[in-house]
Amino acid sequence: MIRFLMVWMMLTFLGNCNRSASDLTHIPFEPTPYELEEPEHFVKMEIPADNPLTVEGVELGRQLFFERALSLDSTISCMSCHMPGRSFSDNVPLSVGVGGKKGVRSSMTLINTGYYHTGLFWDGRAYTLEDQALEPVVNPVEMASEWPEVERRLQQSETYPAMFRAAFGVSRKEEIDRFLVAKALAQFQRTLINSNSKFDKVKRGDAQFTASEQRGHDIFFDASQELPDAECAHCHIDPLFTTLEYENNGLDQVDDLDRFRDKGRGAITEQRYQNGKFRVPTLRNIARTAPYMHDGRFKTLAEVVEHYNEGGHFSENVSPNIRKLHLSDRDKADLIAFLGTLTEIYE
Ligand code: HEC
Ligand code: HEC
Repeated sequence: MIRFLMVWMMLTFLGNCNRSASDLTHIPFEPTPYELEEPEHFVKMEIPADNPLTVEGVELGRQLFFERALSLDSTISCMSCHMPGRSFSDNVPLSVGVGGKKGVRSSMTLINTGYYHTGLFWDGRAYTLEDQALEPVVNPVEMASEWPEVERRLQQSETYPAMFRAAFGVSRKEEIDRFLVAKALAQFQRTLINSNSKFDKVKRGDAQFTASEQRGHDIFFDASQELPDAECAHCHIDPLFTTLEYENNGLDQVDDLDRFRDKGRGAITEQRYQNGKFRVPTLRNIARTAPYMHDGRFKTLAEVVEHYNEGGHFSENVSPNIRKLHLSDRDKADLIAFLGTLTEIYE
């Protein structure tokens, strides 16, 4: 009987010990709704009902975004390839992950991603920011880690359990998992709204274009009888400066749609006609996100404009809006000056 009692006492003691170590219920869970300031000229952001923005969730997401413990050897965070001063993009053609491994695509700006509803990534393979956030951690050329390991690190950290409690109401450390990490990252990224460039100010009547920017604007939007049409706004339409559609803008000449080096959208939908198509990227902050295109092939905006001016390269599914433009040197310079007005950057 005494032995039985002792064992019982020991077990209760251990149980309590365990509970007190992982129990978080002493920390209050009173999430504060986050007031998202949405620009009037944007459509409203669709936010999943099971992940409303809270001050605590956004703060946790921000912390996780800069957290290197999400990577195998704690060298890489989301920020490594998505730097705030570069409009949450990086400055190399192909992003570099753990161990210096090179990816196959160029990093993307994360501004206004909360508004993207036709798929994330260049090929649209993730549907929501919550789905997307699960990928970089385990991508061998990005963070190269494994979720059980990342979950363990966060559960055992000094600071994170209290933050997960405050943001999501977890009652035990063990409840911290990848899906909550993804939710927090998504909340943070939904706050990266960018709508205060010179272009926006001119539209509101708070600033004026220079003569060169105005000429560039008119060429970009096919807005003047006297100036050439550059057809840009068929795909890069305001306010997001993308239709979010998948297009082939004539980067590569192929005589057979199966021959694209990167099949882009086609590899996801398995529709041959979508091979070589990529989601039209935003042009907001474009002056700060070089190099350009899904593989970072162009170093400057001048190279990009030259590509369009020459009418791109032929393949069966290249867009009819890609054609020789016959722009003069002045037209090209003005177009680039206009693109510069789409910049609003956080330093
Ligand atoms: C090693 C560099 C690297 C790291 C680290 C990285 N990313 Fe990315 N990110 C990229 C690249 C490259 C793409 C485009 C990949 C593609 O299209 O296949 C991308 C695309 C994205 C997109 C899609 C944007 C859009 O407009 O569709 C989001 C969102 C994103 N990353 C968020 C994150 C988050 C959150 C993290 C951290 C958990 C992260 N990234 C870590 C390089 C990186
Ligand atoms: C048919 C649709 C279409 C038209 C017209 C078009 N673009 Fe694009 N643009 C795209 C697509 C798609 C991409 C991404 C292609 C890729 O990387 O494979 C892109 C990429 C870009 C990029 C690089 C963005 C980045 O983040 O790397 C710039 C800059 C750009 N376009 C500017 C322009 C300008 C200026 C014009 C007019 C002269 C124009 N575009 C006309 C579809 C279009």
